[in-house]
Amino acid sequence: MAAIIETKDLTKIYHGGVKAVDNLNIQIEKGEIYSFLGPNGAGKTTTINMLTTRISPTSGTASVSGFDIRKDSYKIRRIIGVVPQDLTTDEDLSGYENLMMVSQFYDIRRQDASEKIDELLRLVDLVDASRRLVRTYSGGMRKRLELIAGLVHEPEILFLDEPTLGLDVQTRTQMWNYVRDIQERVGITIILTSHYLEEVDALSQRISIIDHGKVLVTDTSRNLKSSLKGDTVSLTFGSREDVDAMMKFTIANEIKDAGDNTVRIRIENSDSSLPEIMRFMTERGLIATRMTVTKPTLDEVFMEYTGKYIREAESTDGKKMMFNLRRLRN
Ligand SMILES: Nc1ncnc2c1ncn2[C@@H]1O[C@H](COP(=O)(O)OP(=O)(O)O)[C@@H](O)[C@H]1O
Ligand SMILES: [Mg+2]
Repeated sequence: MAAIIETKDLTKIYHGGVKAVDNLNIQIEKGEIYSFLGPNGAGKTTTINMLTTRISPTSGTASVSGFDIRKDSYKIRRIIGVVPQDLTTDEDLSGYENLMMVSQFYDIRRQDASEKIDELLRLVDLVDASRRLVRTYSGGMRKRLELIAGLVHEPEILFLDEPTLGLDVQTRTQMWNYVRDIQERVGITIILTSHYLEEVDALSQRISIIDHGKVLVTDTSRNLKSSLKGDTVSLTFGSREDVDAMMKFTIANEIKDAGDNTVRIRIENSDSSLPEIMRFMTERGLIATRMTVTKPTLDEVFMEYTGKYIREAESTDGKKMMFNLRRLRN
C-alpha cells in the first residue's frame, strides 16, 4: 500500500532550544488507524501540528497526500480534518450551529452542508442534542461533536490529538466505538496520539512509540507484544542461595537476576510453562515468597524501549509540572 504521509528527518526545535521532535522518519498508509503513543511532553502534539501545517518544522519535511507541508499548506488544509487536543467548539452555539459554522468556513453549499451534518450527527448519536447549546453537553458529547466537526468537509485524513483526554473510562470506550465506526464507514485514514495504552491498543492498526521527540519503534500491537518473547514470571525468594539455584532454570527464553532476591523469567506461554517452573523449584526445595505472572502488555513494550513504564513517566511529568508551577508562583 502507498504511504499517504511520509516524513523525512522531520525536526522541531522551539525557541529556548527544546528539541520537541527529533529527526522523525515514518510512513503512514492510506486507510489505517495509526497512533503515536508516548507520555506527556514526548512530542506528539508538535508532530501533529507540523503535519497539519499549524507550525513549520525547523528542519526536514513531510508529505501529506503528495503535498509538501513546507510549500502546500493551503492544499493540505483542504484534505485533512483536525481535532486538536484543546476544545474548539463554541459553547454559546448549538451543536448544529457549530457544525454549520465549520461548513461555512470551507465554503460548502448550505444544502450539502445540512445533509452532511445530519449524517455526521447520526454517526455519533447526537441528533437529539444537536439543537441544544454546547454548554449543556457532557464531556463525552462535547468530544463527539469535536470529532465530527473535523469531518464536515469530508477530509481524506483525520488527525485526533488525545481524543479522550480527561474523559472517564466508560465514556472513553464509547468514543473508541465511534472512531472505529467512522474509519469503517468513511474509509478515512486516522492518525491519533494518546498516552492511554488501552486506547492505542484498542484502536490502532499500527503504533509508533515516541519518547523525547524520537520514534523508538513502529509496529502492530500484536507484533510489539510478541517481540517481548512471551510472558514474564517474577519470583522472589528469601535468600541469595535460592536465587542462584533458580538462575539455573534453562527452559526460559530469558532469565534475569532482577535484584532484591527476585528472578525474572521470560517464557513463551505461562499457562503451559508454569508447571515446569514449579517442578524445578520443588525438586530443589526452592520456596518463593512472592510470584507474579504478567502477560505482555503495551506498557511492557514501552518499558522495553524506554526503560520506564508509561504510567511512571506520566506521574514524574506530573511532579515536574507541579514543581514548575510552584517555581512560577514564587
Ligand atoms: N510552543 C512551545 N514552546 C516551547 N516549548 C514547547 C512548545 N510546545 C511544546 N513545547 C515543549 O516541547 C516538548 C514536546 O511537547 P508536545 O509536543 O506538546 O508533547 P506531547 O503532545 O507529547 O505532550 C515538551 O518538552 C514541551 O514542553
Ligand atoms: Mg499533546
